Formats: sequence, C-alpha cells, structure tokens
Amino acid sequence: MSIFSRKSVYAQNLILELDPLAETLAKKGKRVIKLNRGDPPRFFPTPKYIIDAYVKALRGGRTYYSKAQGVAELVDAVAGRYRRMYGMDLGGQDTIITAGVSESLLFINNALINRGDRAVLFSPYYPQYIPRLMIEGGRPLFGKLSMTDDWELDVEHLSRRLRKMNGKKQVKYMMFTNPHNPTGKVFERKALQELVDLANEHGILLISDEIYDEIVYNEKKFTSIGQVARGIPHIILNGSSKNFDSTGFRIGFMIVPGSDKVSESLRKKFSQYALVRLSLNTPAEYAVAEAINNRKEHARAIRHMVGEIAKRVNFTVDMLRENPYITVTRPSGAFYVLPRLDMKRLDFKGSRDFVVSALTEKGVQMTGGYSLGAQDHFRIAALPPIDVLEEALTKINDLCIKHARK
Ligand SMILES: Cc1ncc(COP(=O)(O)O)c(C=O)c1O
Repeated sequence: MSIFSRKSVYAQNLILELDPLAETLAKKGKRVIKLNRGDPPRFFPTPKYIIDAYVKALRGGRTYYSKAQGVAELVDAVAGRYRRMYGMDLGGQDTIITAGVSESLLFINNALINRGDRAVLFSPYYPQYIPRLMIEGGRPLFGKLSMTDDWELDVEHLSRRLRKMNGKKQVKYMMFTNPHNPTGKVFERKALQELVDLANEHGILLISDEIYDEIVYNEKKFTSIGQVARGIPHIILNGSSKNFDSTGFRIGFMIVPGSDKVSESLRKKFSQYALVRLSLNTPAEYAVAEAINNRKEHARAIRHMVGEIAKRVNFTVDMLRENPYITVTRPSGAFYVLPRLDMKRLDFKGSRDFVVSALTEKGVQMTGGYSLGAQDHFRIAALPPIDVLEEALTKINDLCIKHARK
C-alpha cells in the first residue's frame, strides 16, 4: 500500500519534465540552450530600484510575518494600479496577496471544486491549471482556440459543449488567460465580451489570468476582463513575476472586484485561506509595492524589457518562417511562440518525440505541445538574446531537415 493519497499522482509539471535529462546532458559537457521556461529575470535582471526596495525592507527589519492577506502598502499599490490602468475602483478587501498566481490557483480550486465538478479551460493552455483542479477531484471541460492566420477563440464550440452538458455536471469556473500563454495572443474586447456573455448565460464564474498584461507589443492593446465584466462576478489574477520581472519573489494579486453575493463570499473564503498560511514573503511585498508605485522607474524598466521581448519574439517568428516544416503565428503578448510541425513530412512520433530529439540531438530544450493541449506544436520561450536564439533556431532547422520523411 502506498502512503500517498490517490490525488498526489496528478501533481506534475510537464514544463519541467525534461529538466533531469537536460541536467544529465549538461553534466556530460553538452551545451544545452533552455527555451522551455518563462523566467524573465534569468535574461533581464530584476530592475535595481526593486532590488533596492527589497534590501531596504530587509535592513529595516521587515522580516516578520506580514498581515496574511497582504500588507496595506501593497494592497493599496495594486488598487492604484488597477484604477490607473483599467479605471477599476477597488476597495481594500478586493485584493488578496498570494504567493504567486500559483497559490491563487490553489485557493480557487480548493474553494470551488468538489469531486466530479468541471472547470472550463481553453486549449492550448498553461499546464499548471490542470493539476490544481485535479487535486481537488475536478476535471477540465475544454474550450478551444483555433489556429488559422492567428489564434481565435471558438466561442460557438464552447457554447455547444456547455449546452450538451445541460447541467449534468457543475461547471464551477471558466479560466481564461490574456495575454495568452502559450500562443502569445492578445484577445480583443469583442472576444472577451462573447466570453463574458457565455459565462453569464450559464452562471459560470469567470477567472482571467492577466499575469502578462503589460507585456504587449506589435501594436496590440490589452483589455482587462475587469473593463468588460462590470457587474458580473469575476476574479482577476496577476502578480509581480512577469511585469515586474521578479518570478522568485513569489508575489501574486488575486482580485475579486464585485459587490454581489458570490464575490463577497469568495473574498471571505480566500481571506480565511490566507490566514491559514499565516504570512507572505514580507520584504518581497514591500519591494513589489515600490515596484508598482515608482511609476517613472517602472515605465523605464518595462519599456526596455517589452521592447527587447518584441525583438526576440519577432526574430524567432521570422526565422521559423524560413523552416518549411513549420507554420507559426506572430504573437503580440507574453514571450512565447507556439509553432506547428508538419508531422506528415517529418518522422517524429509526436511533439514529445520532437522535443526529446531536439534536446538529445541538438541540446535545445523546449516544451512539447502534448503538455499544453496543442498536439503537433512546441513552445519556445523567446527570452534569450538574439544570438542564442539564432543558434537554437538553426539547430531546430537542422533537426527538421535530418528528420524529414524521404
Ligand atoms: C499564464 C500564467 N499564469 C501563471 C503563471 C505563474 O505565475 P506565478 O509566478 O505568479 O505563480 C505563469 C508562469 O509562467 C503563467 O504563464
């Protein structure tokens, strides 16, 4: 008999699945280029003004337990950010600070999911949504994004699926990611409105993961769900990891803006969970408050980072478009590229076989579409400098030529 509960088998992270193999290869002296992980500070050092604020908090003795739901300085900073950027009027209770979106997902699934419940996710998806849901005994109900010249939300398909479900299972929430990981798509207001209408029609709580909301380029403009879903219960997830280039701080923002009964009880529940885990990383909270409030420094930092990301993503797309075995859309948000392989013309058994071959034969580590709900695709986190991307993309090209069906 195993000492583990049955639930524990679902707790895996497929983005990191090939890390042990990559480590073994690196130990043997092979050069490994890592394009699998969206970890900006590895390529863009966290801005100095944020580090200074962290150090100041440490030196000032802010090493104690903080208020469990988040220190007032950070909660106010987050409210100010949403007021300025999206015209939302948040009160002090509307924001709970979490240990990253990752912990927000834990709170959400724990609060909402009973065994057998469903939650709408969209494929391709950010894979970490699934284990949190399944640990609680829930299962995904997949909507889809379809790839033509760009990725589009297929609202009709989801609407049919929901009608077919016809209340047989409880669909507890609909999780949407915008800007989208892994496609890099930034969704227009019209698509968001359709989604809000559908969620409202079926009485499903809408959750929008907007962790990349300032990483938008190629002339796209971002709309927050908070601007569209006014008066309808929804949750917005965000945090310091990407926009404030500080993944290791582990600071997330969970915003529940509504004044309805559902939002009210969600806030209470999340607040209790926060109390159970006692505290956050206190100095990091002060550092992120300064990261948000020092608007001049932030504007400078984000402009630089997003400008560089746009160059790197566009370079990646341009180079991949020279590869005859690959089709790829051009992202306008986040920093991922999700190309599709022409499997009919290649001898790989699937996207896992492709990424394992890329790692073992060429030393390039990427994420296979099999872990993202995107068969025949692979994901590149286009964060390294152009010369490294060029080296990796040349190797991918060589790999495709070597594996072309004769
Ligand atoms: C869409 C999305 N949500 C959440 C996260 C994780 O966020 P955090 O670092 O705040 O836990 C990521 C990380 O890559 C992500 O891509």
